[in-house]
Amino acid sequence: MTNLKGKHLLSTEDLTLEATEYLLQIAEQMTPFAKRRKITRVLEGAVLANLFFEPSTRTRLSFAAAFCRLGGAVCDITDLALSSMAKGESIQDTSRVVAGFADIMVVRHPEQGSAAQFATATHIPVINGGDGPGEHPTQALIDLYTIKKEFARLDKNLKGATIAFVGDLKYSRTTHSLLKLLALYRDIHFVLITPPSFEMPPTIVDQIARNGHVIEQLSSLQGLKNVDVIYATRVQKERIDKNSNTLTNYAADFQLNSQALVKAKAQNAIIMHPLPRDSRAGANDLSTDLNNNEQLAIFRQSDNGIAVRMALFSVILGVEHLVLRNLRDVLWFTPKQIGTQDASFHRLKA
Ligand code: NCD
Repeated sequence: MTNLKGKHLLSTEDLTLEATEYLLQIAEQMTPFAKRRKITRVLEGAVLANLFFEPSTRTRLSFAAAFCRLGGAVCDITDLALSSMAKGESIQDTSRVVAGFADIMVVRHPEQGSAAQFATATHIPVINGGDGPGEHPTQALIDLYTIKKEFARLDKNLKGATIAFVGDLKYSRTTHSLLKLLALYRDIHFVLITPPSFEMPPTIVDQIARNGHVIEQLSSLQGLKNVDVIYATRVQKERIDKNSNTLTNYAADFQLNSQALVKAKAQNAIIMHPLPRDSRAGANDLSTDLNNNEQLAIFRQSDNGIAVRMALFSVILGVEHLVLRNLRDVLWFTPKQIGTQDASFHRLKA
């Protein structure tokens, strides 16, 4: 059971281990709907306000698709400049107004703490879809679900696993949320690899260490070895002062590519990334030379977003028990993926 009905999800700190496991179990039940094999309409009549004041592709679309697949309808804002915030409207007024129109809202906004401000001004549940360099709790749930599914395929356990994070850990909100969420489990060995000026905020490192996990902080990919998961991130250029020379620290030897994996003897590690991957020259983001590597889980990870977000909506709105009682077959043509690139290919361990 969980205490999430009617609640906000602003940070992974809002989740207990029990609530997290419950959400992942419901996500597993959502797989036939996420994969377009079954239909459910348990949220028929409900409206989601999807408020995105920062760029997004997968988060906005997968929240919307998840809500639609539960039978609900979605209205959205896709640009701060096209919203009344550009006329000086406060977060509080915007939030109160939206509460009159919708049953639940998802918010992405460039300021850290903004989702919490939305939550103070409304009586409907608020889900944080990314608050500046703060948190991104639903991505963390998707990432944890993906790790568990990949581990099920490889017959591995979270307990005793070594999980490396590489890249811009200072501003990458997905890593902040995922680290805190993983800290709910036991005996994980974390390896944090960053160039200078991109380190994980010390408050988060201390918080995780207090939970009894081993945390190693390294300043070079050379130190990468014996890992089960490598979670790469994009340099969050939009959060870095353009007049500083911080970006020059992010040199090519930080790029995760085939050669780096061979050097680290990490060919068997699962490779993850929240996406988007910055494919511009000099970005040194996760290399496309790993695209044919079976261990590259990045698209299974984004596929998993639908089932996890369907689970979250249904639990917060209290309809998760009705879903399996309200299913029908899909009537339209849906091409079915098969093979290991398909996110539903590997079942979670019981
Ligand atoms: C991330 C984000 O917005 O924080 N993307 C996502 O939601 N999957 C990562 C990023 O932008 O680098």
